[in-house]
Order: sequence, then structure tokens, then C-alpha cells
Amino acid sequence: MSFCVAIDGPAAAGKGTISRAVAAQFGLAHLDTGLLYRAVGMKGGDPVMAARNLTPEDLARPDLRSMAAGEAASRVAVIPEVRAALVAFQREFAQRDGGAVLDGRDIGTVICPDAEIKLFVTASAEVRAERRFAEIGEGTFAEVLEQVRARDARDMGRADAPLRPAEDAVILDTSDLSIEDAVARACAVIATRRG
Ligand code: CDP
Repeated sequence: MSFCVAIDGPAAAGKGTISRAVAAQFGLAHLDTGLLYRAVGMKGGDPVMAARNLTPEDLARPDLRSMAAGEAASRVAVIPEVRAALVAFQREFAQRDGGAVLDGRDIGTVICPDAEIKLFVTASAEVRAERRFAEIGEGTFAEVLEQVRARDARDMGRADAPLRPAEDAVILDTSDLSIEDAVARACAVIATRRG
């Protein structure tokens, strides 16, 4: 039986850590959908063709977590044909036996509107930039903050699948939470809903 947990939110809000922990705790498969967009952005050439022809090697590139990849991802993510090319793979993953956690921007709104559980993980731009700066050790804090804000604006402002909480999403603001507390709250929501 499929069981889908959709985790959306802006850059560096803690989605990745929470998703991995939730997947481990409840024995679910995990897909970081941002990696798909990062791989398309870094492949070069026509982004629509890149999205249609993504390979496992593209998804294993060591530079996918870089600032450049995040920037490239949010630029190709505004293209409707790129998004359309990635839908089927994500939906198949979401329906796998044993259940799945998918994290991204449009999982609860577009990819899995019927997900059993939807979480929208957020935090202030400053807190997110601090976390991302500590994590990637690239650029200056001011540059990271600027990139976080630019990506927020692009992700929320695009016409196709903009970043926003689904109406039935539980909002988890992690600005003042340790990662352990954020994970514990997410797990509590899932345990309650799962019954
Ligand atoms: O890790 P971080 O939250 O910084 O970013 P990510 O989840 O790897 O996503 C990188 C970019 O891909 C985002 O800024 C979005 O523009 C895009 N993306 C998207 O449009 N839809 C998704 N489901 C996942 C990512």
C-alpha cells in the first residue's frame, strides 16, 4: 500500500534533514526532488532536453549541492516543460509499495495532492542563510543570504507550481528550533496522522 509524506518549503529550511530522519524512523523511501532540478541545471545545453534525458550519472554528480547548482536549479525550475518532464518519475516514486517521503517545493500542491501527510517546513531567511552558510562553507554570509532571498522570490513568484503551502499542510517553522526538536515535531505529526 502506498503512503506518501510530502515535505515542502523554501531553501535551507531543514526539509532535507527532516525528510531523511522521517524516512529512517518510519521505514519509508526518500526522494530529494531538488536534486532532479539541480542535475538539470548543471547538465548544460537545452534544459528541457536535459530534463527528459536525465541519467543516474547526472544525479550522482559531486557538485549538485554547490551554490551554483542551487542557482541553476531555480532558474530551470521556472520552465513548465522542465517541470512536466519530471512529474512521472516523482509520482511513480511516491506510489511505491512501503511508502515514500518526497521533499521539494510542489510535492503537496502538484506532485502528490492526495498525500496522506503534508508538511510545510519554513524559517526566516536569515536563519536559513546561516544554516546554509555553515553547511556549504562557500562564499560569504551576505552572498548566501542574497541567494536565499533571490531563490525565494523566484520559487514563490513563478507561474507554474509556485512555492506555497498546500491548504491542508501542517506548517513547521524551524527558526527557533534545534534540528532535533524540528525532527521530533515532524515525527509526532506523522505518528498522529498515521494512527
Ligand atoms: O536544498 P535547497 O532547499 O536549497 O534546494 P533544493 O530543494 O535542492 O532545490 C533547488 C531548487 O530547485 C529550488 O530553489 C527550486 O527552484 C527547485 N525545485 C523546484 O522547483 N521544485 C521542487 N520540487 C524541488 C526543487
